[in-house]
Amino acid sequence: MKPEIGAAIFIRRVGLNRIDDLLALEESSFPTDRISRRNLRNLLRSESACCLGAYSSGALIGSMVILFRAGTRSARIYSLAVSEAARGRGVGRRMMARAEQEVRKRGCVKMRLEVRPDNIPAIRLYEKLGFKKTQELSGYYEDASSAHVYRKDL
Ligand SMILES: CC(C)(COP(=O)(O)OP(=O)(O)OC[C@H]1O[C@@H](n2cnc3c(N)ncnc32)[C@H](O)[C@@H]1OP(=O)(O)O)[C@@H](O)C(=O)NCCC(=O)NCCS
Repeated sequence: MKPEIGAAIFIRRVGLNRIDDLLALEESSFPTDRISRRNLRNLLRSESACCLGAYSSGALIGSMVILFRAGTRSARIYSLAVSEAARGRGVGRRMMARAEQEVRKRGCVKMRLEVRPDNIPAIRLYEKLGFKKTQELSGYYEDASSAHVYRKDL
């Protein structure tokens, strides 16, 4: 769905009732390595995951999953997606800013994420927000593509 220019965009916790919308967004955003329904259901119920949605006029136009682990003050951005029609309007940047708030609230001081080396929009976004490439993981994705690991100290 294309958000109307000027329509308010809200970012808030997303619940199990939006699982179909989340899966549709996931499917249209990622060619491989998609979150399965079962995995997503577990994430939506888990205390160690924070699932956020971006909404415009009630429609889900963005999603994000942040993972937390006991014993570490580093949080992981597990997934970030903005619907194609809503891209390039600052939604991804706002979701990342909100993620940073959630991560701080949970007492974490570091964030990490993985990204495909050819995902220029995402890499630009992360670098703009102060993430630095720290590692390369070969054969990381289902199609054997490597991943770049980006980290940020808060
Ligand atoms: C990556 C993604 C989340 C960005 O979301 P978005 O809402 O379009 O991003 P924003 O509009 O907030 O853009 C913020 C910054 O990101 C960068 N960016 C976003 N889209 C870009 C593009 N197509 N080309 C280059 N840079 C881009 C720019 O630096 C931009 O800042 P600017 O507007 O000041 O130039 C979105 O493209 C997406 O969902 N892609 C498919 C799923 C995906 O790849 N997720 C990331 C997995 S690691």
